[in-house]
Amino acid sequence: MNILENKVVWITGASSGIGEELAYAFAKENTKIILSARRQKELERVMNNCTNQENIKILSLDLAKHDELNEKTIQAIALFGQIDILINNGGISQNAIATETNIDIDKRIMDINYFGSIILTKNVLPAMLERKMGHIITVTSLLGKFGTAYRTGYSASKHALHGFFDSLRSEVYKQNIQILLVVPGFIKTNISINALSSDGSPTNKMDPGQENGILPEELAIKMIDAIKNNKEEILVGGKEKIGVLLKRFFPKFFSKFIRKQEVR
Ligand SMILES: NC(=O)c1ccc[n+]([C@@H]2O[C@H](COP(=O)([O-])OP(=O)(O)OC[C@H]3O[C@@H](n4cnc5c(N)ncnc54)[C@H](OP(=O)(O)O)[C@@H]3O)[C@@H](O)[C@H]2O)c1
Repeated sequence: MNILENKVVWITGASSGIGEELAYAFAKENTKIILSARRQKELERVMNNCTNQENIKILSLDLAKHDELNEKTIQAIALFGQIDILINNGGISQNAIATETNIDIDKRIMDINYFGSIILTKNVLPAMLERKMGHIITVTSLLGKFGTAYRTGYSASKHALHGFFDSLRSEVYKQNIQILLVVPGFIKTNISINALSSDGSPTNKMDPGQENGILPEELAIKMIDAIKNNKEEILVGGKEKIGVLLKRFFPKFFSKFIRKQEVR
């Protein structure tokens, strides 16, 4: 039996990259899918590429427009009657040093990556708790485990997600709500091209890390597997994953190592 069949999955950041590949992977599992991001046309493209289009709906939203997210959640629930799985994947990166970055940019990154995801989570949780069933998956980053230059605001937003969801897991465990944190390393998507520079404009530059990263379809397959096996956290990527262990067991060495890395 496929435990994902007929489940309702709400994916943010579904218009490209990891979210797009997740849509295709979930479609193959015969789930009902709600695709969300800002760009309606890209969401339509993704829907048209999915296998079971009759089970797919589009709900455009902006994670930074917090006053609209309650209404968006009501609309999302109305599409298939409930949300079984929420995937907080939509997000934006950064490529700028802290001293050159206006605080408005730091706030924008937190608004999208952290508060947008937290608001949707809080909105879907009450019905999940009532049904004693639900799965909340959040895509963070290795930079939610350690920091590098040029990513202060981004790394902070991803660390914050770990704090929130690790705490939430303890609160909802008894009501059978599963919390999964997905921690990618370098994945070959447009994340670095869309990353915010110090004035808030997109960097428009592909990082070598992403260029040489693993394909998002590989991550999507690992995420589906982790959901089916009720995992709490998975790290997905290449050799950069070793950074988590180095930071934990050799923090001084890691600090020297990471400041020499060319992440720009
Ligand atoms: N690729 C990597 O190497 C990597 C590594 C670690 C973590 N991640 C995380 O993976 C997640 C997905 O990123 P990706 O790699 O797939 O990059 P991507 O191709 O740039 O996708 C980002 C997605 O987020 C959406 N998004 C951005 N701002 C939004 C907003 N204000 N409101 C709603 N949706 C918004 C984008 O859609 P619209 O522009 O249409 O809104 C797009 O669908 C992100 O959370 C990212 O931090 C990626």
